Amino acid sequence: YDLTRYNSFGFTSHAERFISVTEIDELELALSDVEANNWPLLILGGGSNLVLKERIPGAVIHIANTGIAVLADDGEQAIVESAAGENWHQFIGHLLEKGLHGLENLALIPGSVGAAPVQNIGAYGVEVSDCLHSVTAYDRQNKELVQLQNASCEFSYRNSIFKSRFPGRYIIWSVRFNLSSIFTPQLDYSGLGNFLAGKGIEQPSAIEVYTAICEIRSSKLPVPSEIGNAGSFFENPIVDESEYRRLKEQFPELVAFPESMGRYKLAAGWLIDKAGWKGAKQNAVGVYDKQALVLVNHGDGNASQLLELADAIKQSVCERYQVSLRIEPRIYPI
Ligand code: EPU
Repeated sequence: YDLTRYNSFGFTSHAERFISVTEIDELELALSDVEANNWPLLILGGGSNLVLKERIPGAVIHIANTGIAVLADDGEQAIVESAAGENWHQFIGHLLEKGLHGLENLALIPGSVGAAPVQNIGAYGVEVSDCLHSVTAYDRQNKELVQLQNASCEFSYRNSIFKSRFPGRYIIWSVRFNLSSIFTPQLDYSGLGNFLAGKGIEQPSAIEVYTAICEIRSSKLPVPSEIGNAGSFFENPIVDESEYRRLKEQFPELVAFPESMGRYKLAAGWLIDKAGWKGAKQNAVGVYDKQALVLVNHGDGNASQLLELADAIKQSVCERYQVSLRIEPRIYPI
């Protein structure tokens, strides 16, 4: 089964078996087949945070359920549930039409709603965990649907139990969000406030924030249907204060943001850019010329070329700054 259009890098990839499920009993049936045969299993959402190799053994289950429902609404606060298979950006558009706010800053992020909690997607000062009420997931260990409240998901920067503590155990089936009918702009990310101020907007409406986010993203991030990519390819490293001071002394221009407990988040894009990688090409893959944190497929690249480039970047960053970068997207199979 050809997975080329199921991964945003557009890598040529073939799965031994591909099962698309829209109902929970279809999922259970597919899982019992997987277990009976001991197949390796990949759960696929939008495929936008994934580096797929050429041969995918075992089974791929594509989560394709749909539906968005307002479960509660008291005129100020609402709880909205979305099926995991819904497209994230379309979901944001739907909320905007309904006048339910909180997720505007996460517009235009590729991928599915069900994938959002896995790595706690975040952008422009908001993380999905800020508005997440709970996750309904199929627990492969106890073979039942469970509801995990926000606190049980152990969210942190680009992390959750779905990624770290229990990888593979939970299959996210739907997600509930706490949203508000009163819009409070979240302008902590200075680039967003400045962008709006530049247009003479001081008190932006939800639509103005949404539009600004879409414009900012489009100006520095490639559209996967045009240039294959998975957004940021590395996490922004978090370092302690002494390491930050050492780097700041050596590189006064260093871009970093204070985190909790005296730590600092370094802009990996800056580290890579200043190490000379922006726009670099190697085989059919490369570093995007407008954002050094984004690796791209120029056409007929593949996973091994990409991982080779990623390794070279990691090594160069490590030599120059003594900082080690972590790859953000999932590599499958490992
Ligand atoms: N920078 C450079 N050169 C570059 C890229 C960035 O000098 O080539 C500098 C910028 O000037 C800026 C700083 O690095 O001062 C940060 O750059 P940017 O605001 O573009 O954000 P980022 O840290 O590179 C993170 C997220 C993005 C998210 C943006 C906006 C991670 C790994 N990435 O990127 O998320 O959209 O912030 O909030 O945390 C993603 O995860 O796929 C993603 C796109």
